[in-house]
Amino acid sequence: MKFFIDTANLEEIKKAKALGILDGVTTNPSLISKESIDKEWIMDHYISICDLLEDEEDLSAEIISTNYVDMIQEGEKLSLLHPKIVVKIPMCEDGIKAIKFLSKKNIKTNCTLVFSIGQAILAAKSGSYYVSPFVGRLDDISHNGLSLIKDIKIIYDNYHFKTNILAASIRHPLHITECAKIGIHAVTSPLNVISNLVQHPLTNIGLDKFLKDYKNKF
Ligand code: E4P
Repeated sequence: MKFFIDTANLEEIKKAKALGILDGVTTNPSLISKESIDKEWIMDHYISICDLLEDEEDLSAEIISTNYVDMIQEGEKLSLLHPKIVVKIPMCEDGIKAIKFLSKKNIKTNCTLVFSIGQAILAAKSGSYYVSPFVGRLDDISHNGLSLIKDIKIIYDNYHFKTNILAASIRHPLHITECAKIGIHAVTSPLNVISNLVQHPLTNIGLDKFLKDYKNKF
């Protein structure tokens, strides 16, 4: 199971990398907007993120264009920026066409803002390398995000679709562990969710007792 960090913040990426369990980074226009950089430095910022990554790790960087011609131009530009960049493209008709075009040119894409089974099928049919279903945002509106993940996995398995499921909008450790039970390829989450996976009260109590017992005796 691959772990991605959902951020554009270099310090957070470094912290996650230091844990030794990171497989890549995902960003989106909202996340990049949180960084203290001017517009003309965004591309350099993506390069800085890529420079932190090792072999087999990648960065999903999202386009902001909304029509086919601009989407493919922006996608090609992003992909030329660094070999680790996967072009993140929003689900829409032009987006599907752009994914198809870029996939044919062997440019990896991540179809984002996916909220339904139908959208996930289209993402796979267009040849997207990743599909990003948004678990937490579905939960937010009282839909079951994990149930969508389960359904996409069944359908992709049924048809041997090659698109990798990258569960996004992950809000808590249970989202990650449930995705693991379903057999999802990857999850992307903020650093605090990854950190929370480490925690269990019985681990802390157990460690305290081990150390106390040892100190009492020696
Ligand atoms: C990543 O691909 C998505 O853009 C991200 O996970 C969305 O997360 P959010 O719903 O917490 O904003």
